Amino acid sequence: MNRAADDLVRYIRDRAGGAKVAVGLILGSGLGHLAEAVDGVSLDYAALPGFPHAGVSGHSPRLVIGDLEGVRVAVLGGRAHYYESGRADAMRLPLEVLRALGAETLILTNAAGSLREDMPTGSLMSLSDHINFSGLNPLIGEPTDARFVPMTDAYDRGLREALSDAAEAEDVDLPEGVYAWYSGPSFETPAEIRAIRTLGADAVGMSTVPEVILGRFLGLRCAAISTITNMAAGLSDETIGHEHTKAMAPLGAAKLEKVLRRALRDGAVTAA
Ligand code: HPA
Repeated sequence: MNRAADDLVRYIRDRAGGAKVAVGLILGSGLGHLAEAVDGVSLDYAALPGFPHAGVSGHSPRLVIGDLEGVRVAVLGGRAHYYESGRADAMRLPLEVLRALGAETLILTNAAGSLREDMPTGSLMSLSDHINFSGLNPLIGEPTDARFVPMTDAYDRGLREALSDAAEAEDVDLPEGVYAWYSGPSFETPAEIRAIRTLGADAVGMSTVPEVILGRFLGLRCAAISTITNMAAGLSDETIGHEHTKAMAPLGAAKLEKVLRRALRDGAVTAA
């Protein structure tokens, strides 16, 4: 572990206790309320040098460590996106800290546009795979051979199954699909959406992929769920924009919370 992560881990353990964290959770746009459900200690990113405290509206910039459904979790209420700084590895330090706190599992959430009619606004999608359409990679510049990370099963099969079982038990539809990462911050053009659909994408968004690459690099088992906040550009008359994303995220957020709570409660996420 590097010095900065080492110092942060000590600072966090002094305040939140030294018990091993089992699961790291990253919350996407408009999904920050889940952090409030955690019975634990909340630390502002501003007190954690290297954490993304500038942030994007709709995110809640704090780290909450504590108990959620009997599992010790570390919840990142907001993430840094590539488009904020031009750094694809902007989430490296927070993820190194999660790993050092003991996390072996990383569950990510995001808001996304849908390319599928059977996944309208308000639906959820569990990522089965992704397409890195940005051409960027957070491991560029990493000097060790560890940079050659296999991405064949980037979204862990056991975790996906656990989430699928939890969704079924909660009577929530959770189709699987392929997420395409565009850098943002501008939204895609209709032609870009047609292109990515031809290539096999089911949903599109501006996050998650660099974090999953970093997560796999750090040995974390990863899963991710999108909440669909709009049909992607050109596929409907719906407005597309950040305000719309924030307004629509709560539609899926309640279902997402049910699924995550159930999966944690059943022990499926930690056992998977
Ligand atoms: N495109 C990219 N990112 C998004 C979208 C979208 O349509 N909706 C929510 N986040």
